[in-house]
Amino acid sequence: MPSTTTTARRARTRTPGVPTPWQMFFQQFLKHPVMVGSIVPSSDRLIRKMLGPVDWANTKLFVEYGPGVGTFCPAILDRMTPDAQLIVIDTNADFIRYLRHTITDPRFVAVHGSAADVERIVRDHGHDHADYVLSGLPFSTLPPGVGPAIAAATQRVIRPGGAFLVYQYSPRVRLFIAPHFTDIDHEMEWWNVPPAQLYWGWKTKGAAAATPMQG
Ligand SMILES: C[S@@+](CC[C@H](N)C(=O)[O-])C[C@H]1O[C@@H](n2cnc3c(N)ncnc32)[C@H](O)[C@@H]1O
Repeated sequence: MPSTTTTARRARTRTPGVPTPWQMFFQQFLKHPVMVGSIVPSSDRLIRKMLGPVDWANTKLFVEYGPGVGTFCPAILDRMTPDAQLIVIDTNADFIRYLRHTITDPRFVAVHGSAADVERIVRDHGHDHADYVLSGLPFSTLPPGVGPAIAAATQRVIRPGGAFLVYQYSPRVRLFIAPHFTDIDHEMEWWNVPPAQLYWGWKTKGAAAATPMQG
């Protein structure tokens, strides 16, 4: 369910002929059911719970994989400090075009590409690392090898003390996270269609030294 906080931010920029987030999400689900992986956007409760543990005062770069119509984006931007940046990465060009049209916050950057390239994308935008990475990717239906590559790249790109935030409908997603994050918190959110598994994979200080970001 789209966030109610999205309404005010987007109403200023919506023009006739531009679909609502719900219409856009459903259209893209019909076009790319496997890549989108869900029939409706995330609920407000899921968003609040997922973002709850983030230390916003110490967040300069927040990255989101698979933003879709940007259901999480206004909630992230509302919590971020004025000098922080939100980079979202999606393989669907229609979603990226939609996001660039509907979200005008100068801290927001929408990149058309794959989450597997997060290290290059972060570097290209002038950062050494990300503080937090959020994923709405359908991990279990990604092409073979892509999920493990994304999880490994994510572990490398996150700073010590940061976290990989993952929500997914199947608990199998933990299999992708566990090889790279030993400190994992888990909760369920029933108020979502369908109910979702939430994971927070924390990057410990020791892990940072062992896996620096590739140059
Ligand atoms: C379940 S939908 C996103 C839902 C949305 N975040 C929400 O909360 O309502 C999954 C998204 O992942 C994107 N996606 C799939 N594979 C990707 C990849 N390798 N890199 C980045 N985005 C990808 C799809 O285009 C789609 O927008």
